[in-house]
Amino acid sequence: MENKNIILLIFTYLELNDLARCEQVCLNWHHFINSDTLQNRKIFSNFTYDSLQQFKWHSKKFQYLKIKDLVFYEEDFKINKKDIINTISKLELESLTIKLNQLNVFDHLLVNQKQLRKLEIRMPITNQQLQLLTQLPHLEQLHLRIQKRTDENLKLGQLHNLSAISLQLQGMNHQEVLQMIQNSYETLSELEIDADEYNHDEMIQIVNCLNKDKIEKLYIYYFNDYSDLLILKLSQFYKLNKLSIFKAQNIQEDSMLQLFQNKYFEEINLNQCDGVTDRVVFQIIKRCQRLKCINLSWNVNIFDHSIMILLEEAMQLEEVYLIGCKQLTTECIPKNLYFRNLFKKLRILNFESCNAMNDSKLKKLKNQFKYIKIINYYGDEIDKI
Ligand SMILES: *[C@@H]1O[C@H](CO)[C@@H](O)[C@H](O)[C@H]1NC(C)=O
Ligand SMILES: *[C@@H]1O[C@H](CO)[C@@H](O)[C@H](O)[C@H]1NC(C)=O
Ligand SMILES: *[C@@H]1O[C@H](CO)[C@@H](O)[C@H](O)[C@H]1NC(C)=O
Ligand SMILES: *[C@@H]1O[C@H](CO)[C@@H](O)[C@H](O)[C@H]1NC(C)=O
Repeated sequence: MENKNIILLIFTYLELNDLARCEQVCLNWHHFINSDTLQNRKIFSNFTYDSLQQFKWHSKKFQYLKIKDLVFYEEDFKINKKDIINTISKLELESLTIKLNQLNVFDHLLVNQKQLRKLEIRMPITNQQLQLLTQLPHLEQLHLRIQKRTDENLKLGQLHNLSAISLQLQGMNHQEVLQMIQNSYETLSELEIDADEYNHDEMIQIVNCLNKDKIEKLYIYYFNDYSDLLILKLSQFYKLNKLSIFKAQNIQEDSMLQLFQNKYFEEINLNQCDGVTDRVVFQIIKRCQRLKCINLSWNVNIFDHSIMILLEEAMQLEEVYLIGCKQLTTECIPKNLYFRNLFKKLRILNFESCNAMNDSKLKKLKNQFKYIKIINYYGDEIDKI
């Protein structure tokens, strides 16, 4: 059968519990799913608590399915600890995302995971647990996304040579963070950081520890002490292609122009930033060939013309957020909707709280481009007429 390979390929991308359901569709599919070809492929999909339950009934499958990427959230379920440990310790994971609320199995989970490259932790951890990470020889990406404040002062400085770090947790000791970033100077290309606890000088120190030949992605959350100096330092990261800053206040237009000079961005988030003007938007347009997502929400100094050109020129755009851009009117929508490849990739266009936006024009747009989710002044999605 000719399309067998295609079906097999699709199956390798499915969640395990979807796979379990597919298996029941027909004999052909049952056969495919149980064929060697599929079992010998690596499974790149999630494997959640639900999948585990689904797969209990033919758990023998675990022996040959090669699961590389596991997302394991333990909510308030009654689960058998041993069962979980046994199952997971048989897997050779490259990526693990975990949130364990009740189970205390963190160390058991990591024991056999010497191949692990990416780890995302969504629960409070202790220094003892952090210590285990130093024994993972291939760990490159560490994402700590923890809602609660951690009780201990996490000794982050013991980790080395990471390529991506996310520190979205409270109560991080500034020296430990600096040490961690310094230890990865040669390798670090992506940093996400919650910076509400840092003052201006501490943030400058962090930025000074970053390698300008390496940094490609920088997301700074909740920092409220920006300066032109800081923006100009960021502008030196010439490989930067994903940037998120929020509420950068008292920033000059010239600094913003500098920040976007000569760089090809894929993602830009400039929520509520001062100094973002039409000239800055035009600076972005100059090299917008790769731009996929832009968020210019709550910037009151951008007008129709620059946004219209942006929408016409940035062919790769998928998501555009213009929430609260009060100066915009329907004139920002390109006049010729048949213009080249207009909106080919666009999926989200958000004009919430733009009070001069006219629904009837947005409805026309929606009618032409049914695949775009268009949000009006009230935050409602425009239905096609
Ligand atoms: C895996 O899980 C994450 C987090 O729940 C989700 O965002 C992602 O879409 C899932 N991927 C697949 C292939 O199901
Ligand atoms: C980090 O990488 C550097 C340079 O490649 C190497 O010399 C050093 O031993 C590594 N450190 C650790 C703790 O692996
Ligand atoms: C864009 O900005 C708005 C307004 O602050 C925010 O609600 C939204 O989450 C942002 N979206 C993205 C994808 O950054
Ligand atoms: C919206 O556009 C329609 C037709 O283009 C027009 O009749 C109407 O007055 C406009 N409404 C506002 C609030 O501008």
